[in-house]
Amino acid sequence: MARWSAKSLAKPDVGSLLIDRGTIRYAPARMAEEKDTLTVTDNRTGKTYELPVTNGTISAMDLRQIKVSDDDFGVMSYDPAYKNTASTKSKITFIDGDKGILRYRGYPIEQLAEKSSFLEVAHLLYNGELPTKDELEKFQHSITHHTMVHENIRELVDAFRYDAHPMGMLVSTIGALSTFYPDAKKIDSKENRQLQFHRLVAKLPTIAAYAFRHRRGLPYVYPDNDLSYSGNFLNMLFKMTEVKYTPNPVIEKALDVLFILHADHEQNCSTSAMRSVGSSHVDAYSAMAAACAALYGPLHGGANEAVVRMLEEIGSVSNIGDYVQKAKGGEVRLMGFGHRVYKNYDPRAKVIKKMAYQVFDEVGKNPLIDIALELEKIALDDEYFVKRSLYPNVDFYSGLIYQSMGLPMDLFPVLFAIGRAPGWVSQWNEMLEDDEQKIARPRQVYLGAGQRDYVPMSER
Ligand code: SDX
Repeated sequence: MARWSAKSLAKPDVGSLLIDRGTIRYAPARMAEEKDTLTVTDNRTGKTYELPVTNGTISAMDLRQIKVSDDDFGVMSYDPAYKNTASTKSKITFIDGDKGILRYRGYPIEQLAEKSSFLEVAHLLYNGELPTKDELEKFQHSITHHTMVHENIRELVDAFRYDAHPMGMLVSTIGALSTFYPDAKKIDSKENRQLQFHRLVAKLPTIAAYAFRHRRGLPYVYPDNDLSYSGNFLNMLFKMTEVKYTPNPVIEKALDVLFILHADHEQNCSTSAMRSVGSSHVDAYSAMAAACAALYGPLHGGANEAVVRMLEEIGSVSNIGDYVQKAKGGEVRLMGFGHRVYKNYDPRAKVIKKMAYQVFDEVGKNPLIDIALELEKIALDDEYFVKRSLYPNVDFYSGLIYQSMGLPMDLFPVLFAIGRAPGWVSQWNEMLEDDEQKIARPRQVYLGAGQRDYVPMSER
């Protein structure tokens, strides 16, 4: 599109002539007195209101002045599932859903996945800057020395049924951690919040591994401080009778990258739960138990497990057509497809898809990948999915990698939780440091019965 400013053709500040796909159109310049406001006319009263526009938003509270009478409550915004509502300002993660962009503290996810480590990214998310060498070493040392959990936690995990879902165990056990750290109630202390951040990032892999070993009837493996964060997680998962576990470096790296890719994602359902529950000033463990519970849902973090079950149900490439028809008919959803924000390919899915082959080269190809690739190809060519901007998301390929690593499907959302933990705590911390935030308490539109008198049983 070529743009000639009308300045060169006529009086200044009268706009521009644009040639756009062969046609000339006129774009008005910003009027001299143009202000960052909306002018709203209430046609019920004929009154006009000027609402400030800040960061592309209007303040919902500015709507309350719009009334039809003095005793009118005033206008509210109505936005089920918050599809078009910003609940907070944030400096942590930026997503451009149309362009498929994801950045943590301004750094593109592709660069962090290639060059950083999960603990470095965790430090970046929480503190806002990439750590110096000394800062990273201190952080790594602290995390390494917070990986143990109280023996009562081991006994708590032991108390679950043998077939308890690991996410159910994780939600409960993270909540239980609040009873071991009563100091965590001091949410006004910056230092105390930082300590809980270290404890949570460090202890989630230990609890996850305990849950995995409990399901298998295997003895628990204690942390090995000689190993990296992801290497130690593999140790606690897979160590058997060998004296010292040696992680496969390809798997260790792939797991670390997967944790990086899951580390934060602005105000998703589970992060919103962390912020909302945390806004009551409860401790970080109780807030994270709520976040974990939200992540457990198949529409959110439970999708990576649901994707593998879907691919196994499809069974072969020849069955894909029928399954896609069922999805288009609304009978099923293509799990791992679609996103509230991304209306383009999820940048994380691109990295994971590429990384899958590195893991498959090491441990053997997951046969479900052929179904996944063909399903993606068919869906991306189909009007139903194209019109709704349904692309593969972070969960579409991640489960195939986890499965190839020898991890059971019901552990996949737990792996998502480990990756997301630093994001949850960073967002929780930002919320507590935000002077504009209060206890979260949305309003409602009441459409129920008007006042009526109690009816005795004899008259019902
Ligand atoms: C994550 O928010 C985050 O950032 C989440 C996350 C993170 O990092 O925290 O990115 C992680 O949760 C990724 C999403 C994982 N979930 C899935 O893969 C489950 C399958 N996808 C969906 O159910 C769905 O796409 C959502 C939940 C992800 C998004 O749902 P929206 O934005 O509420 O969209 P919608 O349900 O209103 O659907 C819009 C239309 C509907 O059709 P119409 O009513 O217009 O006819 O698209 C259809 C839906 O039926 N649709 C799908 C579909 N997803 C949406 N149709 C088939 N398959 C799908 N997957």
